[in-house]
Amino acid sequence: MKLDGFQQWLKDTMGLDASTIGPTLVERAVQRRMSACGRAGLADYWQWLRDSTLEQQELIEAVVVPETWFFRDAQAFATLARHFDPLWAATHAGERLRLLSLPCSSGEEPYTIVMSLFEAGFPIERLDIDAVDISEQALGKARRGLYGSNSFRGGDLGFRDRHFQAVAGGWQLPASIRARVNFIQGNVLDLGFLPGEARYDAIFCRNLLIYFDEPTQVRTVEILARLLKPDGLLYVGPSEASLLLSRGMSSAQFPMAFAFRKAAPAPNPLAGTALQTNRRVASEPPRRAATPLASVPASPSRVSSASQRKPAPPTPASTSARPASAATTQSSLLDTAQSLADGGRFVEAAAACDAYLQAQGPSARALYLSGLIHGAMGRDAQAEGHLRKALYLDPCHEEALMHLALLLETRGDAAAGRVLRLRAQRCRTAASR
Ligand SMILES: C[S@@+](CC[C@H](N)C(=O)[O-])C[C@H]1O[C@@H](n2cnc3c(N)ncnc32)[C@H](O)[C@@H]1O
Repeated sequence: MKLDGFQQWLKDTMGLDASTIGPTLVERAVQRRMSACGRAGLADYWQWLRDSTLEQQELIEAVVVPETWFFRDAQAFATLARHFDPLWAATHAGERLRLLSLPCSSGEEPYTIVMSLFEAGFPIERLDIDAVDISEQALGKARRGLYGSNSFRGGDLGFRDRHFQAVAGGWQLPASIRARVNFIQGNVLDLGFLPGEARYDAIFCRNLLIYFDEPTQVRTVEILARLLKPDGLLYVGPSEASLLLSRGMSSAQFPMAFAFRKAAPAPNPLAGTALQTNRRVASEPPRRAATPLASVPASPSRVSSASQRKPAPPTPASTSARPASAATTQSSLLDTAQSLADGGRFVEAAAACDAYLQAQGPSARALYLSGLIHGAMGRDAQAEGHLRKALYLDPCHEEALMHLALLLETRGDAAAGRVLRLRAQRCRTAASR
């Protein structure tokens, strides 16, 4: 028995494509489990594994990537809370809001959903969240609701003070929030996975598809589509968005939220000469007014906490005396880039950003957006370059600071990440004076 056999078993059982986490990680996990079981070699351990469902779960636990944190990719939660707001509750009397978090890992994602809806005024006694993960260990932590500092990342941690209690060993979520989430151990690829149809108003399936090969991704999207109500929302991770578009889903057009619907694809905003026009991409359905929630601000002064920040020094682009109509057209080009990015059409979005930068000159907003797009495409070096340029123009661009910090930390450079987070903190303090 060779390592390939174990890799194939993991793919068949849980969908894991070993190349996504690195074969050495799988090898180390197998070696570790082999010694823990006191098996002499791979063939011996293979036999042991085949005969023991307990050991099968142990091996799965050894390879899963439970990485998650509260308010990860926060726009997803903001748009969910705007969509299912108190008005939705009032106009759907007698209905419960049914959500699925799959995979939920150690619970940060479904609990963030509860906190977001609660803070937006949704009556959470009418909220049911099923939260599923293959890892028993992650679910155990989720049910306890006790979290350490690794679960709290990013600048704004006000929610921790509002909802958690500081206790020995971390921060404890109260029972009132924990009670809204029903944790279930499950494997999305199991034949009998959540039987029945179209039961959820929204599904969060973020940062799972990235570990699967293409046939498994396709299969998973079909399962999710079956579980989603006809007008439901499906949220995925930033680097998973393009896959959804190729599987008959269309972007919900929620900026930087990576949300999709089962519907006909939206018209291509780049069709014909659209890149040169100021045509807006269709927004939310008419039921509610679309409120822009872009994490990429319309102007530097709209950067989240930077709303109180002193304006950045004028850039060559902002001081250039262009005719108003040309400026409007260019700004719509950037809106188009944003919409394309929201829809997971990263190549076109990057092209629109480049066109904007060529026409308009350097701009922190465009460079930041470009950094996000390249990051979503997995082009980390380009993403880093664009984020650094954005910071050169606007040294206190908070989102650029946080994204660059995350990028460097993910690469293993925790010290550089910390420096950037401290800088963001200093900028916030200076802005609030
Ligand atoms: C990176 S976490 C994502 C958590 C959360 N959705 C987020 O984006 O922060 C990936 C999770 O997928 C779970 N997982 C992996 N394969 C699975 C499968 N076949 N079925 C259900 N969960 C799975 C792992 O146990 C792990 O907790």
